[in-house]
Amino acid sequence: MEEILSQVKAYSEEITSFTASDADSLEQFRIRFLGVKGIVKAMMGEMKNVPVDQKKEFGQTMNGFKQLAEEKFATEKERIDLMGAGAAEQIDFTLPGTPLPTGSRHPVTLMRNRIVEIFQRLSFTVAEGPEIEDDWHNFTALNLDENHPARDMQDTFYLSTDPAILLRTHTSNVQIREMEKQQLPIRIICPGRVYRNETISARSHCFFHQVEGLYIDENVSFADLKQTLYFFVREMFGEDVKVRFRPSYFPFTEPSAEMDISCMLCKGDGCAVCKRTGWLEILGCGMVHPNVLKNCGIDPEKYTGFAFGMGVERPALLKYGITDIRLFSENDVRFLEQFSGI
Ligand code: DAH
Repeated sequence: MEEILSQVKAYSEEITSFTASDADSLEQFRIRFLGVKGIVKAMMGEMKNVPVDQKKEFGQTMNGFKQLAEEKFATEKERIDLMGAGAAEQIDFTLPGTPLPTGSRHPVTLMRNRIVEIFQRLSFTVAEGPEIEDDWHNFTALNLDENHPARDMQDTFYLSTDPAILLRTHTSNVQIREMEKQQLPIRIICPGRVYRNETISARSHCFFHQVEGLYIDENVSFADLKQTLYFFVREMFGEDVKVRFRPSYFPFTEPSAEMDISCMLCKGDGCAVCKRTGWLEILGCGMVHPNVLKNCGIDPEKYTGFAFGMGVERPALLKYGITDIRLFSENDVRFLEQFSGI
């Protein structure tokens, strides 16, 4: 009996001085003292070894011991629960959150979308075609027959296993594919990637992007071509930009022209970007050659049309002040994340 009472006293001191540091240590406490195999139960089980005349006193002591453990558990539990709630309340909502990285569109895509969107306002619709193309759609149907010297204007990647298959050198192949469908009138804008076997440098790459335009109907004239492109230039580069057409040569158009805009950097005075000419070459254009219409089964006596093709990288370089075209394809996030928009 003496021995048990001194044990109870020692345990009582332990209980009194206990403070739970967290929910786990409180649970340890509960299991140790109040659990099914805990100390309180074990001590109470000693009742059977206590002489009958001392049972009453022992019972009272044990009730006190049990109560002590239960009360300690209750007060500590309350304190720990409050501490948890307090921690939740202490969140500082003014702290910056964990940033979620959001992507942004590629500058070439941004420029492509701008170009396309302007022509969409003139009721042009988007048409796309394959980048892996056959000789007919990339060259022959466009009035460049097999021995045409103008084939050399565009250095081509051919498939070594089948030279009749190539990587398209321009988006003009889409013109042919759309005209072959014979659903007239045609008013399309064709954005896409093109490939040329060129030495890679700050100014040229072996692949780049173009936007092609084609309008075929009865009575389409060069005046329509000019007005359409004037509208485009105004929307794209602003009211102040001047435009000039220079006679040129493309096998698929007759007459053909190249369109320049006044250099927006030096306002026409001449600078390094415009090679001191005051003008920037923007696109090639012309009236669709009758042979091209015939190749696609369209009657050139009834229908006429105009076409144009422009690069996307050049205006993107100008707009964003980028000096090296290779940056567009290096996939450096530090470069790409500087552009925003849709
Ligand atoms: N295909 C030409 C090129 O890649 C650009 C071009 C010029 C397209 C005149 C046309 C056009 O549709 O009419 O250089």
